[in-house]
Amino acid sequence: MAESAPVPRPIQALIHTAALAANLARVRQRTPDARVWAVVKANAYGHGIERVYEALRGADGFALLDLDEAQRLRALDWRGPILLLEGVFEPRDLELCSRLNLWHALHCEAQIDWLAAHKTHQPHRVFLKMNSGMNRLGFTPAAFRSAWTRLNALPQVDEISLMTHFSDADGDRGIDHQVAAFEAATADLPGERSLSNSAAVLRHPGVKTDWVRAGILTYGSAPDFPEHDIAHWGLAPAMTLRSKLIGTQHLQPGDTVGYASRFTAERPMRIGIVACGYADGYPRLCPTGTPVLVDGVRCTTVGRVSMDMLAVDLTPVPAAALGSEVTLWGEGPRGSRLAIDEVAHAAGTIGYELMCAVAPRVPVGVA
Ligand SMILES: Cc1ncc(COP(=O)(O)O)c(C=O)c1O
Repeated sequence: MAESAPVPRPIQALIHTAALAANLARVRQRTPDARVWAVVKANAYGHGIERVYEALRGADGFALLDLDEAQRLRALDWRGPILLLEGVFEPRDLELCSRLNLWHALHCEAQIDWLAAHKTHQPHRVFLKMNSGMNRLGFTPAAFRSAWTRLNALPQVDEISLMTHFSDADGDRGIDHQVAAFEAATADLPGERSLSNSAAVLRHPGVKTDWVRAGILTYGSAPDFPEHDIAHWGLAPAMTLRSKLIGTQHLQPGDTVGYASRFTAERPMRIGIVACGYADGYPRLCPTGTPVLVDGVRCTTVGRVSMDMLAVDLTPVPAAALGSEVTLWGEGPRGSRLAIDEVAHAAGTIGYELMCAVAPRVPVGVA
């Protein structure tokens, strides 16, 4: 008799390609005059470069960090622009930039030194990065012009574009101070500009920029949650994490749930045990009360998240039973939806981190 293949745990991540395409269309709607970089670093924010490619190939280019991800895009036959947002990490990486025609950021003198020493027949398109206030990478406004002048004299350089990154586009401080610093230091420099990230696309769509760099919004997470949610911005979740109930328990008052007995029942209640834990990428920091959908009905977690399981109060959904569908985030049955941002917020983090942290053991499907 043939041995049957092992049945996987019921947990699964689903990538919604129609949502990716629709979210990209939202970027175009909000910034119709700009070209769009689809930011696909960190393996497309955990969604998988190969899985998102078809849906996002309507972008004008792909922006990322890792050379191996750039190679994967070229292997998918993407011939258009690819931008290395942090430039190269080693001088020898410039070889690959020449070979794959990668555009790259330059954020420090060392990177310019490497380029000046690089032998190439094909001059590079570069994005000179200004540190306009984020204080992460880039030339200060005072040092920017001399960096530009030095670059402009290099035979290895084709076109120079100018870029900066906002620290507070999602919040109260906003972007005006950074835009002012950028514009003052670049006023008479030629070249295309790239300024806006997702939060700027949504909250400050009037920024003068030739290229926007849209990451998180493409994946259906609101960069300024909880002030605004994805419904407010007209975005759709690009990832669902779903699983099933693999057990139920009846609790009496005084009964506790899970490690460290973090939850104590105050009344008779029924709970469900979900095949999903922190080893799947669900945050252990989610406290009792974190939202979850069971059969599309909004419920809440109880007790600590363990490695492979978590518990849910089934009071709102008495018909739930073994095998009931559980939506940890994303699209649930019958049009139900739970934004990844809500779960992230409960854990004290952001949607970015959750989508990037789905564990390799979780099977991923494309819807
Ligand atoms: C330089 C740069 N541009 C654009 C982005 C995209 O940001 P977001 O995902 O918030 O749109 C990032 C991401 O952190 C980035 O580092």
